[in-house]
Amino acid sequence: MALIAMVSAKGSPGVTTAALACTLSWSSRTLLAECDPAGGDILAGYLANSEIPPIGLLNLAVAELRGQADTTEFNKQIIDLDLKHPGYRHVLPGINDPVQIGTVRPVWPRLTDFFLGLEYKGPGYDVIADCGRLATSAPPWPLLHRADLVVLVVRATSLRAILPAIPAIGQLRKELTDNGRGAGSLALMLVGRGSEPASEIERRLQVPVLAELPEDRAAATALSDGIGRLRDSSPLLRAAAAAEPILRQAIEQRRARLTATRAGARG
Ligand SMILES: Nc1ncnc2c1ncn2[C@@H]1O[C@H](COP(=O)(O)OP(=O)(O)O)[C@@H](O)[C@H]1O
Ligand SMILES: [Mg+2]
Repeated sequence: MALIAMVSAKGSPGVTTAALACTLSWSSRTLLAECDPAGGDILAGYLANSEIPPIGLLNLAVAELRGQADTTEFNKQIIDLDLKHPGYRHVLPGINDPVQIGTVRPVWPRLTDFFLGLEYKGPGYDVIADCGRLATSAPPWPLLHRADLVVLVVRATSLRAILPAIPAIGQLRKELTDNGRGAGSLALMLVGRGSEPASEIERRLQVPVLAELPEDRAAATALSDGIGRLRDSSPLLRAAAAAEPILRQAIEQRRARLTATRAGARG
């Protein structure tokens, strides 16, 4: 159980689609937290055919500002995505207008505490935070600093799509080193495949590739736009499910390293 932040450098490589694919396919209880400062996409996309009242991150932020963001309030702001197996897969819808980020921004640190604390609730959640693009004026840095993993989602179909990852990784490394617990949380998730193999992308970017999602138009359209049927057997959902143990292992290794470093520092 962990906090996993997913981001892109720029463009639309498929962060929301990948985050939702993980949320729907992992074996653990999952919460997709829509933290994209440009606005959430799930209500207008995957859940476009459902009648949902205006709930989500903004209300939780307002409750947090009033000191009332408790479990009862949180439960009012999330939507159960899997009515066949209730209680396992949820989404906290994001803001629906970028100006609302002004209300959310001051409480990112406390919302991050809240997300991190969900691990210890019985039963706990894995929180997958869709943090949108780094190339916005207001990425949710307090959350990125403290996430167990910061997964940069990169379209691997062409060099042109890969290159923006280079400055983004530089920025993330600096931020995580200066204000977080080091750049060891950084990882890549590749979407689609081009002429460069994952090992070459990993070598070039000097960040481990922990997951590769295939190009899968049908499943992606069902996830991003709510159009068509989503099959559990789709290549996209299967690849997202296969990524879970690898991401989890990376988190465990990093936590062990951080604990050893802390113990070493104590003496
Ligand atoms: N694995 C994939 N295969 C095919 N199309 C994809 C895949 N992932 C995302 N897409 C498509 O790319 C577009 C952008 O996806 P989205 O998840 O909204 O990107 P982002 O959140 O990075 O802006 C959508 O039309 C979506 O269906
Ligand atoms: Mg998105």
